[in-house]
Amino acid sequence: MIGRLNHVAIAVPDLAAASRIYRDILGARVTEPLPQPEHGVTVVFVELPNTKIEFLEPLGADSPIRAFLERSPGGGIHHLCYEVDDIRAARDRLVSEGARVLGSAEPRTGAHGKPVLFLHPKDFLGTLVELEQA
Ligand code: CO
Repeated sequence: MIGRLNHVAIAVPDLAAASRIYRDILGARVTEPLPQPEHGVTVVFVELPNTKIEFLEPLGADSPIRAFLERSPGGGIHHLCYEVDDIRAARDRLVSEGARVLGSAEPRTGAHGKPVLFLHPKDFLGTLVELEQA
């Protein structure tokens, strides 16, 4: 059911410092910061040949990644995003298998303007999983 790895998201306390590490030390192509107030984050994309890494920095008081960074102040992998062809069909199959979808279980428009859902980390090896309709 799942297809390509769309991105790996890393929560970071400092986007500029994270960008320097990937640009200057790892030699990656890194975009300019993009504030996404509706998602409570500012995002930088690291563009790799086969996928993307996204840095997420909290934006606003009720950012969804603030609690994560309180637990991991230096940053850490926040979620993996896999592509699916049909997000509602994917959701229905997952729910029928007993997996928990976070929130209302209705797909929302994600950071890339496409429908996304998040799956409970306890059902997926301790890792928050995002599904994005490709
Ligand atoms: Co994501």
